[in-house]
Amino acid sequence: MGLVGSGIMGSGIAETAIESGYKVTLLSRTPESAQLIVASIKDSFERKIGKHKKTSTQADEELGRLSVTNEISDLADCDLVIETVVEDLDVKLRMMRSLDAVCKPSAIIATNTSTFPVIELAAATSRPDKVCGIHFFNPAPVMKLVEIVKTLVVSEDTIQAANSFALSCNKEPVIVKDQAGFIVNCLLFPYLNNAVKLLEQGVASMEDIDTAMKGGCGFPMGPFALLDLVGLDTAVSILNSLYDEFKDPNFSPAPLLKRMVTAKLCGRKTRAGFYKY
Ligand code: 3HC
Repeated sequence: MGLVGSGIMGSGIAETAIESGYKVTLLSRTPESAQLIVASIKDSFERKIGKHKKTSTQADEELGRLSVTNEISDLADCDLVIETVVEDLDVKLRMMRSLDAVCKPSAIIATNTSTFPVIELAAATSRPDKVCGIHFFNPAPVMKLVEIVKTLVVSEDTIQAANSFALSCNKEPVIVKDQAGFIVNCLLFPYLNNAVKLLEQGVASMEDIDTAMKGGCGFPMGPFALLDLVGLDTAVSILNSLYDEFKDPNFSPAPLLKRMVTAKLCGRKTRAGFYKY
């Protein structure tokens, strides 16, 4: 399989796929970002070896299945390619066109988009019946869910292949209609946005809001820790897409969230967001 993009999702899906036996070619823009991905997967494997979850022989075998490249033509023979590039529609459309030009005609081209209409990305290719959403969650090696997004024109074979792929990665896939936010983000992001609005209103401190949602709802992380994990820039982009689709004020990004993105306080990826890292 091929993976495009060297962000958190590209790295997490690559880790999951090589652990599941797939041979992965990962396309990234620069050799430096590709090396960062390899280093972060190696770190993760070291931790798993330390916890006796795998042996160093297994880790070496799995890493042997990963190759990184800066040449899109190296994806020509892949049966499945998943794009995980930045959540920007123009960038994703350009990537879909380039993948369509390079990948063999039988290849499935999937997108890990969180909110963009998958049909728009499919329509940019000459094979809309072979394009679907395969939406992993962050951190991909840990989160069980994968949303398989079904457009109006995708073939049943493509959906079944995507579903089988997710199952073979030991995930729990669900099939969902091509509508902004699918299931999880449509429910999760108004909650995260409203947490920021509560903070703006001075109802409680962010630490207390996080404590409340962990202790009161059994969530593994409070909303501010989760926003930092997802990335505030990604969160604003998801909220904007949801707002564009539904025009529901609940989806309109809280002003503080937008200001923090402008200030480059994007969460873990910039080492500072609501918390410092
Ligand atoms: N890569 C690989 N493994 C990881 C990892 C990573 N990035 N982060 C954590 N892990 C593993 C740890 O190694 C550990 O494994 P073990 O149980 O086998 O030892 C396990 O996950 C638990 O990790 P920790 O003990 O370090 O920490 P926690 O118990 O606090 O768990 C967490 C961390 C899994 C991130 C947990 O807090 C969690 O589930 N948080 C909620 C995450 C969430 O809601 N994600 C969805 C975001 S929305 C999204 O992705 C949609 C997108 O479109 C924006």
